[in-house]
Amino acid sequence: MDLKEFPRRRKRLMDMICEGSIAIIPTSQVHIRNRDVEYSYRPDSDFYYLTGFPEPEAVAVLIPDRTNGEYILFCRERDKKKEIWNGRRAGLEGACNYFGADDAFPIEDLDDILPNLMEDHERIYYTMGNNSGFDQRVVGWVKQVRDRVRTGVNAPDEFIALTHFLHDMRLYKSQREIKAMRKAAWISATAHKRAMRSCRPGMMEFQLEAELVHEFMVNGARAPAYPPIVGSGVNSCVLHYTENSAELNDGDLVLIDAGAEYDGYASDISRTYPVNGVFSKPQRDIYDIVLAAQGAAIKQVMPGNHWNDPHEAAVRIITQGLIDLGILKGRARTLIKEQAYSKYYMHRTGHWIGMDVHDVGDYKVEGEWRMLEPGMVMTIEPGLYFPEGMRGLAKKWWNIGIRIEDDVLVTRDGHEVLSMDAPKQVDEIEAIMAGAH
Ligand code: GLY
Ligand code: MN
Ligand code: MN
Repeated sequence: MDLKEFPRRRKRLMDMICEGSIAIIPTSQVHIRNRDVEYSYRPDSDFYYLTGFPEPEAVAVLIPDRTNGEYILFCRERDKKKEIWNGRRAGLEGACNYFGADDAFPIEDLDDILPNLMEDHERIYYTMGNNSGFDQRVVGWVKQVRDRVRTGVNAPDEFIALTHFLHDMRLYKSQREIKAMRKAAWISATAHKRAMRSCRPGMMEFQLEAELVHEFMVNGARAPAYPPIVGSGVNSCVLHYTENSAELNDGDLVLIDAGAEYDGYASDISRTYPVNGVFSKPQRDIYDIVLAAQGAAIKQVMPGNHWNDPHEAAVRIITQGLIDLGILKGRARTLIKEQAYSKYYMHRTGHWIGMDVHDVGDYKVEGEWRMLEPGMVMTIEPGLYFPEGMRGLAKKWWNIGIRIEDDVLVTRDGHEVLSMDAPKQVDEIEAIMAGAH
């Protein structure tokens, strides 16, 4: 693993929080699935971004200008017996020698050591609300220091969320991060192609999911970035459908929203196509609108444009498209103002993406939409959804749910579609499904 970037990140963060501060960053907890079985472990993104440390039961503490070391890692000690059962641990030595900590202590000693580290620091950078048990411990440690003020120590009197600085750092991706995201997107695109080739009426949705996950893993992505959505027919109109338990029927569409996580970075791709490999006229009519809206939105991704420009472009195309098909009636400008499209397009056009699929970073700065800058990565994912039985909607549109989603990097002179290898043109999709590719 390339650990070069982590010390630079810690240094930058410490430069921002300044002397007199202490930052406490716990990793995520292990969660029980049932009885002796755990959910597969994923470190907390903020913690991992700063440490590269993959084990559970760890807390990073950053203390700028501390003479005995600025970066302290609390983690599990090595333990021969436990390692035979559950695998290797870095231990205190590995924490320092391999992961670059200046000092390491057993995680069991956190309650004894942290109050001492807090002494004589004015500000605590800590993000409340992720783990209420840990929140209470932090408050308890501050109280312990306060109880000692008569002995001459100063207690911290300011709590600041770490998110402000840290999440702004995470919003701008480095070359190494972009490389990982490109790979995550490439793996996912390859998986989408495999699903397209495999899709047949009579299969089950979860069998398409299996094709996707197979391709993720074979290519080195050990897990999806989020539970894959494979929704056919009426399920294509359920935005976050994950049951994936229905049969794929001839004549229906299938909407797949699936992305791999690679080296800690997410991808998030949606493609929609007919189960039988050929778009019907109504399916094609709606598909063309969503595809045009997506294209127009992607065009807006460039430095100097603001966060909402792609959404506004998508909404214009979608509204006009729905008017042309007679689904909306009225003047485009009025309908956009009234958000008439939101009955059929009820989500926004994208979100930041990075270590987390819905990644961190502010969308507005001082009340204004944020300007796009090189290194930011976002999804562009317009959709249209017409569930069965929708009032006032001609039957030919029923059960058409379409979303087309790509991951787009803002570059110096425009954008790069990281997920461009996932086919989305109608001819391309139909050729792949016919076995021509
Ligand atoms: N896969 C969730 C989303 O598209 O935001
Ligand atoms: Mn998605
Ligand atoms: Mn998304």
